[in-house]
Amino acid sequence: MRSGSAWLLGLTGAALTDALALDQRDTPAVLAVPIVQERGNSRQISKRSQTVDFDFNTNSRSPYLYINEWRLNFTLGTPPLPFEGYLDTLSNGAWVLGWDETCEDSIECDHGRYVLGNSSTGKKADEEFKYDEWGAPLEGFTVTDIFKIGDTKVDNMTFAVLDMSEDSNNIWGENNIGIGYGNASTSSLIQVLVDTGAINSAAVSVWNETVLFGGVNKAKYEGDLYTFDTVMGNSSEKALRINMDGISINGSSEASNKFPLDALFGNLIDKTYVPKSVAQALNSQIGLTKAPDEYGQVNFSCKSISQDQTITFKFGKLDLEFDLSLFISRGSFEPTKPWIDVDSDVCFFEIVENKFSDYYDASILLGSNFMSLIYSVFDLENGQISLAKRKYDNSPDDIVEISSGKDGVPGAKDSAGALVGGDLSMTALVAATAMLIMAF
Ligand SMILES: *[C@@H]1O[C@H](CO)[C@@H](O)[C@H](O)[C@H]1NC(C)=O
Ligand SMILES: *[C@@H]1O[C@H](CO)[C@@H](O)[C@H](O)[C@H]1NC(C)=O
Ligand SMILES: *[C@@H]1O[C@H](CO)[C@@H](O)[C@H](O)[C@H]1NC(C)=O
Ligand SMILES: *[C@@H]1O[C@H](CO)[C@@H](O)[C@H](O)[C@H]1NC(C)=O
Ligand SMILES: *[C@@H]1O[C@H](CO)[C@@H](O)[C@H](O)[C@H]1NC(C)=O
Ligand SMILES: *[C@@H]1O[C@H](CO)[C@@H](O)[C@H](O)[C@H]1NC(C)=O
Ligand SMILES: *[C@@H]1O[C@H](CO)[C@@H](O)[C@H](O)[C@H]1NC(C)=O
Ligand SMILES: *[C@@H]1O[C@H](CO)[C@@H](O)[C@H](O)[C@H]1NC(C)=O
Repeated sequence: MRSGSAWLLGLTGAALTDALALDQRDTPAVLAVPIVQERGNSRQISKRSQTVDFDFNTNSRSPYLYINEWRLNFTLGTPPLPFEGYLDTLSNGAWVLGWDETCEDSIECDHGRYVLGNSSTGKKADEEFKYDEWGAPLEGFTVTDIFKIGDTKVDNMTFAVLDMSEDSNNIWGENNIGIGYGNASTSSLIQVLVDTGAINSAAVSVWNETVLFGGVNKAKYEGDLYTFDTVMGNSSEKALRINMDGISINGSSEASNKFPLDALFGNLIDKTYVPKSVAQALNSQIGLTKAPDEYGQVNFSCKSISQDQTITFKFGKLDLEFDLSLFISRGSFEPTKPWIDVDSDVCFFEIVENKFSDYYDASILLGSNFMSLIYSVFDLENGQISLAKRKYDNSPDDIVEISSGKDGVPGAKDSAGALVGGDLSMTALVAATAMLIMAF
């Protein structure tokens, strides 16, 4: 169902007539789903580096840090059972955890577990499920069932149910909805939404509060959206990966001869990872002289860093500038202590040496600390990513739909700064009218 039409359903006659006079087809075909961000254990990198037994307490001093779980709700089956899962930019896969005995009395299962026999519409497929998400092997069986997300229902979503028995590889798995590329055999939610007519183009906007399928919310970013082609880097796998043209701290470019470097969007990874040479240049620019620890991180006295510096990530003509402090965390790594020890004077820089490029197939990994600060549009249909800086104010939503075909992201500029996304003032007007009506 088009959510645009859904909005119109509840209207009184007069308002409805006015809205329809504009052009009913132009109400945006979008699906907005709220995201709740939580602090959590970064999946694969933590797994690989064996750092999984940390105590993750609330970091009241650095609210931006350690937030690496982007969660959304959906339901599966008949009767519909609620699930909460990760939104995942690193894969295309849809999977949920199966039932295991520990669920009898464990909150571990609160995010929803799928039991085949409990859904009258669930059909097990012949195909076994196997998927290697960048080094994390997952396995289970494949099911087709009714899936609902927001006000949209998909009658035959194919997803995997991970085997959660003790000897399986899946113990770090979570319910997961991929919005990226990958070769998982399950349905790609974005494509399914296109197929059911809920959205027009296999493209999705993501910011720290919402995932907006098929649309752009112009109220949620500053300046212009710039569009970049995805690149392969050194990888043979297609991924949400574009070239980055530089990083500067307080205006001075670091390791500029190393750029451009391919950068992958990984919202479920907490930190941002850069090649060793770039990490060294950044560390030395802010006065960090210690050798990095086994996780690639350098600790330092929080008092030793000047608070008024900025960091700028450059993509073509787009400069994304932030307070450097948004990339500094305070705390200790010792597992016996609370994760955050506010009395200690130990800080960590959260842009660290990439010791994991083998797993992630990218020179730079843009983790949740970066992705929480930006507005991004992942256009799977055209292999493009649009970016802008996230805007935080209470301006009313301004939602426009992404049309199918090339240059469908409204108002976007190319990496050199030329307008390519067309003038969508009419669509914008219609969308604005729809939003206004919604407010009644
Ligand atoms: C999912 O729904 C539950 C119950 O309504 C709610 O408590 C939770 O915050 C929701 N989670 C997300 C990620 O929207
Ligand atoms: C499956 O159904 C059984 C019987 O109604 C119920 O006890 C159990 O809690 C259900 N399991 C899940 C995960 O919904
Ligand atoms: C799902 O249902 C739609 C509409 O009934 C159909 O076109 C499509 O082929 C089905 N897909 C699968 C995987 O069964
Ligand atoms: C895709 O499949 C190939 C082999 O078929 C495999 O090597 C590769 O790891 C897979 N890619 C992902 C992202 O799973
Ligand atoms: C998104 O970021 C803004 C600004 O930091 C913050 O106010 C808001 O709570 C964040 N939203 C979520 C869901 O974390
Ligand atoms: C890509 O591979 C080439 C050749 O193996 C290597 O020289 C180069 O450093 C790699 N680039 C990156 C960004 O990893
Ligand atoms: C960084 O730039 C700001 C603004 O230009 C300036 O006030 C500050 O002193 C600079 N900090 C350092 C450490 O250079
Ligand atoms: C900080 O770095 C020093 C030297 O590299 C190391 O001995 C110490 O354990 C580190 N402290 C923390 C809390 O990681």
